[in-house]
Order: sequence, then C-alpha cells, then structure tokens
Amino acid sequence: MQQFPHDTIVVLDFGAQYSQLIARRVREMHVYSQIVPYTTSAEALKAMQPKGIIFSGGPASVRAEGSPRPDQGVYSLGIPILGICYGLQVMSIQNGGSVERPDKREYGFADLNVLNPASALLKGIGQNSRLWMSHGDSVSALPAGFEHTGSTENCSYTVIENKEKQFYGVQFHPEVVHTTEGKTFLENFVLGICKAQPNWDMGSFIANAIEEIRTKVGDKQVLCGLSGGVDSAVAAVLIHKAIGDQLVCVFVNNGLLRKGEAEMVLKLFRDNYKIRLQYANAEEAFLSALAGVSEPEAKRKIIGKVFIDTFYSEARKAGEISFLAQGTLYPDVIESKSPSGGPSATIKSHHNVGGLPEDLKWDLLEPLRELFKDEVRALGRELGLPEVLVTRHPFPGPGLGVRCVGEVTKERLDTLRDVDAIFIDEIRKAGLYHDIWQALACLLPVKSVGVQGDERTYEEVCSLRAVTSEDAMTADWFRFPADVLQRAASRICNEVSGVNRVLYDITSKPPGTIEWE
Ligand code: XMP
Repeated sequence: MQQFPHDTIVVLDFGAQYSQLIARRVREMHVYSQIVPYTTSAEALKAMQPKGIIFSGGPASVRAEGSPRPDQGVYSLGIPILGICYGLQVMSIQNGGSVERPDKREYGFADLNVLNPASALLKGIGQNSRLWMSHGDSVSALPAGFEHTGSTENCSYTVIENKEKQFYGVQFHPEVVHTTEGKTFLENFVLGICKAQPNWDMGSFIANAIEEIRTKVGDKQVLCGLSGGVDSAVAAVLIHKAIGDQLVCVFVNNGLLRKGEAEMVLKLFRDNYKIRLQYANAEEAFLSALAGVSEPEAKRKIIGKVFIDTFYSEARKAGEISFLAQGTLYPDVIESKSPSGGPSATIKSHHNVGGLPEDLKWDLLEPLRELFKDEVRALGRELGLPEVLVTRHPFPGPGLGVRCVGEVTKERLDTLRDVDAIFIDEIRKAGLYHDIWQALACLLPVKSVGVQGDERTYEEVCSLRAVTSEDAMTADWFRFPADVLQRAASRICNEVSGVNRVLYDITSKPPGTIEWE
C-alpha cells in the first residue's frame, strides 16, 4: 500500500453509502483522505503511516455471523481511531464490549446530551446538538477502558472513547449535513486528536494523480472520449499532464451539440492543450439514423448505438490502445453488493463498454472517481481550464436529440441551437447562470398562429426550462425575474426564423423530468 506525502486519514470502508462523504469532509479540512477496504491488513495500514483511521458505517449487523471485521491488529498500531455507527459497534465488540438490538431504534434526528464536556472529541460542541442517527443495533456494554461521553434519549452510548488509546466512537453520522455540528466533531478528531497538518490541496491531488496514472499506464496508450462537458475535459487534461502523447482523445460530433460547441472543443484541446484529438464529424450518420423517428426511447437507443459504432471505429484508427479513460465521478459510482469489494463503476450509458467488441480489450482509467462534482470543478480550475467550461451546466449524452421533441431534422436542430444560444446568453447577461443547475430549450412539434409586422405567421413553438437542483434527482423550476424571460422571448421571436411563440416550463421534478424526453 502506498505511503502518501501528506498527513493522511484512512477511511476503512465497511460498505457505507457515506464512506466517500467522510473522505470528502476530511479533504475539506485540507487533509488528505484515502478510502481502503475493511479487509486491509494492519500491516498495510501501518505502512501507509496515517495520522488517524476512521471506521465507516456499514449496512451489516455487527451481530450477524460473518459480518465485516477489521484486522484485530489495527488496535495495536498506536494510531487514533474514530468509529462511525457500524464502526463504533465493531470497535466495541472487538475490544470486549457488546452490541444488542434494542426495542427502540433510532432513525432520523436526535439531540445530544453531552456527559463529559472535557472530551477532546466534544470540544466546542453544545448541549442538545442535533445529530442524525440511522441504526438498528446499539452498544449495550462498553469495553473495558472506555467511557461514554455523550448520549441521546434512546441510546446511552452515543459517543464513547478510550482516551488512553485514542479510540473514539459515535453512533450518529457526523459526515452528513443533517448533523448540525458534524464538521466540528470531525475536525476535533482529524486536527485535534490526530494532529493532522492541513496542508493538502488540489495541487497535491494533481501531483499524486499524475504519479498514479504514470505507474498504472506505463508506456501504453490511453483513449479518452471527450463530450464537451467538464468531467471528461478534466480527466483528459489531467491524464495528458501525466502521459502527454500517450493519450488520444476522440470527440464525436453527433450533430446534436449546442451552437459552437464542436469548434470550442477542437480549439481548446487541439490548439490550446495540444492534445492528440481525433475528431469524427458523424452528423450525417446520426441524422440519417434518426430520420422519421419521434419516440423518445427509440431516439435514445439510436443515438447510443451510432455513438458506440462511431467511437469504436475511431478507436480502431487510434492504434494500440490499452486503457479507456472516463471522467467517472463519485456520484456515478455505485456500491458493489459486497462491502469487501468496495465500490464498482457504473459506466455512463453513452460510453458503455459493456458490449465491447472482441478486438478492443481496454482497462478503465478513472482518475476522478473519488471526487464530487464541485471538487472536479476546483481541479479543472487548478489545471487551467477556462471558467466557462468548468462551470458549465450538465448536458445530456443524447444532446439536442432529446430536446428536439418529435422528429429530429437538421433544420429543426439549427432552429433549436439558435433558441438555446439566445436563452443561455440572456441568462448569462442577467448574471443568473450560476444560480441555475441547468437551463435548456426544447422545440415542440406544435405550430401556432402569430402576427409579425402585418403578416400572419404559422410557426413552431419553443419551451424554455431552467431548474435548481442539488443532484438532478429532484429539481424545482427557477424563478426568473420577468424581464429576463421577456428579453429572451422577444429576442427568440425576432432573431430565430421559424419560431413565433415561447413558453416557460414551470414543472418541478417530480412529476416532470428535467429533460423533456
Ligand atoms: P432527467 O431528464 O432524467 O435528467 O431529469 C437528469 C439529469 O441527467 C441528464 N441526462 C442525461 N445525461 N445521458 C447523460 O449523460 C443521458 O442520456 C441523459 N439523460 C438525462 C439531464 O440533462 C439532467 O442533468
């Protein structure tokens, strides 16, 4: 196991959905954090020389036979440990305490009763601090040498510690925002108890990632699909920094891109970064496959298939490739069924390598898989990517294909591109772009009567949509000042031929989705 140049907090992963969030909270304190499977031996942990170890929560019951246990040797390393939820319970059991399933379980909020304000873990934590709990089992007897320093109404051993050995445990989740003083608990452990130096930043991430990429790739070649979005762009620039011309990027123009997008990608990556870039202008192939198709799922399938065919045919031209690079982020990563296996990747649908042709055998290279979106943006800035790209709204793989409601033709796409460009331009001019999760325009398969000058018109209708969201799982419609919508609507009717009516979509998600198709 690698030893890091910065003070490190290791998160021992028992399969919790929050393991990455724990690591992220530690990184927010400018301390490096690395997640390792709970099966990591005490010897390997020692070799990493961490300043502290955090046991994550986990879905198993510690009372169940075969439930995950860390190497018992971890308690003899002399390294401070913080157990969270399952982590607290496993620490208790392995040190001679016991765990039971009480009648009253706790899911949701609870208030902390501080029993020992002198505890280093509780420094600065107020009485009745709000905690977020989610557990069925509870510690019923403390191990020898431990005291309980905090409790809640339904749980005596909410915060426990063995001060001498520097073992701490909390039954709640300090890493989630619902625990009001969660940050303070974690800082007390990482900075106070472990005395980790807060000297890690994105620059250190880059240096570390470059080393890892070089070691993994050796003298082999890497292929990376660029989408025009921030994730693949950051992954490509980072990998390029590590291995230069051993990276080949492929950019497929599917004819469903926004106005000026293909030019922007080519200019940035070819001219600016001097990255080897194969550009496939496949507009014809996509549009002819989509001709006459209106049903949303059928469109998506066609777009996906033509993308894969084009991408693979480009890949074959790229020479001997060993790795496929992807800008997979942590939210794209799902937990595998077995906690011991750690997380496994969900391949984004438009880069689906599930049905890889026989002659293309690639390993995956995913240098961003531990990061959250805002961390990727910070990384992009550190790598010098332009702000417009770093802060871009999400854009779906099938592009304008799912916003050109009804049949997709070159003419309708050009109209939609113009509408979309005006809408985004007005949003930027109003200084609202960064307040919005995603803004988009759709062209509807409906015509309406209008009057322009002295003439009656009969033209298409477009719908504008802007939403706020945390993660795209739910979304609310954005409350524009009326004059912004008014300017966008009048410019669209005046400047885009073929559109004479503009709607604003005020459907939230649910019941609507963000995209129309
Ligand atoms: P919906 O429309 O399901 O979209 O509310 C949620 C988020 O996902 C984006 N989206 C996609 N992204 N490939 C992608 O890479 C797709 O096929 C796709 N479909 C939707 C959408 O833009 C929104 O951000």
